[in-house]
Amino acid sequence: MNILVIGSGGREHALVWKLARSSRSRRIFAAPGNAGTALENKVENVPIKEHNIPALLQFAQEHKIDLTIAGPEIPLCNGIADAFQEKKLRLFGPSKAAAQIEGSKTFCKEILHKGNVPTAKYHTFTSGHTAVEYLNANQNGPVVVKADGLAAGKGVFVCNDRSEAVDAVLRITKQREFGSAGDRIIIEERLEGQEASVLAVTDGKTILTLQPAQDHKAAFDGDTGPNTGGMGAYSPAPIVDDASLHWIEEYIFVPTVHALKEANAVFKGILYAGLMMTKKGPKVLEYNARFGDPECQPLLFRLKTDVIDIFEAAIDGKLDELPPLEWDSRPAVCVVMASAGYPGSYEKGFPIQGLDEAAKVPDTKVFHAGTALNEAGQIVNNGGRVLGVTGLGSSVAAAKAAAYSAVQRIHWDGAWHRNDISDKAVEI
Ligand code: AMP
Ligand code: GLY
Repeated sequence: MNILVIGSGGREHALVWKLARSSRSRRIFAAPGNAGTALENKVENVPIKEHNIPALLQFAQEHKIDLTIAGPEIPLCNGIADAFQEKKLRLFGPSKAAAQIEGSKTFCKEILHKGNVPTAKYHTFTSGHTAVEYLNANQNGPVVVKADGLAAGKGVFVCNDRSEAVDAVLRITKQREFGSAGDRIIIEERLEGQEASVLAVTDGKTILTLQPAQDHKAAFDGDTGPNTGGMGAYSPAPIVDDASLHWIEEYIFVPTVHALKEANAVFKGILYAGLMMTKKGPKVLEYNARFGDPECQPLLFRLKTDVIDIFEAAIDGKLDELPPLEWDSRPAVCVVMASAGYPGSYEKGFPIQGLDEAAKVPDTKVFHAGTALNEAGQIVNNGGRVLGVTGLGSSVAAAKAAAYSAVQRIHWDGAWHRNDISDKAVEI
């Protein structure tokens, strides 16, 4: 079958890599993809941006695409699943209504409330003035201030006290740093604990929980420095043991999927729960309506089941007929290599050396994220997060060693990475 994967990050490289390994795929198109997607067997990049729904639709019609997978949240929140469905094209991913679980934090909180799902206590505001009044009257301790809409992961402020919280409110509502995404804001209780990412595939009726994973959002070792899109991930995450995973299914995913259905927003696709593992149990920090990046990379590296079977069963509402998912029992660790300056501004265009040498390290795979080809045909850095170097091993320590052994062979001007990816798993 012909497949279209929308997006250009490490998540999308992992998706096309996995899809290419299926005997059911014939041609795979990555729109727009990156330098790594184009190197995979069966895969061709097409220069259509992920936001351009009309052009993606036209491409899918003209190239007789049998299955489309939307990687990032923006096309999903803008209704790509509805647009494809209207033209009888098969796309894996939630409708615009269901994707609001990620697109609007107030909608997400309403669903959590309806489903009685554990989450931080919160208040919503539509003006900065009332939010500041609330803070002055009620709060001087730690709180979290969030812009309601999509803000590329930047609209969340974890505050230590009232003055930081007031400052965050003003940045969202007065300076309008996130534009209309800040028309509504949430102020919520700050939770303590370790974070975990638990993803599930659902057709709106059946829920198949994937193996747990853990992301590293802070830029530097020891979880210090600014927040990033994720500097590395690993799976499984020992902090989510089998008993916790069952609990999360029963008390988090089941009521959420049910509440979405009640709200006329049946969710079909990947439901990603960002969880805080608090002393009182797991609580939802946020939902995403897609695979996490980098979590997708170690997850797909470990998944043995053919993803085409999973995506099709979800589209057809037949996940209940799918045999249990099969996993490589070995842990996987993904280390992100980034451009100098990321998550701030950075220079692009430095040639990347050592990819061939890295490819020789057994049980590893270098997934590309922000890479491109220059005019001389060299692979260069073209984004903040550049590569996701992923390794498998008989233990977390062995998977980490494999990943870093490949990392050590790769160089470009300014390349950097964290050195402690997965150490949290070893400490447990
Ligand atoms: P979100 O986009 O809502 O997941 O927030 C991004 C990050 O902010 C999370 O990964 C957490 O590190 C942090 N965060 C969000 N909400 C809370 C909360 N209620 N308590 C503590 N940290 C939070
Ligand atoms: N790794 C976090 C995310 O994909 O949102």
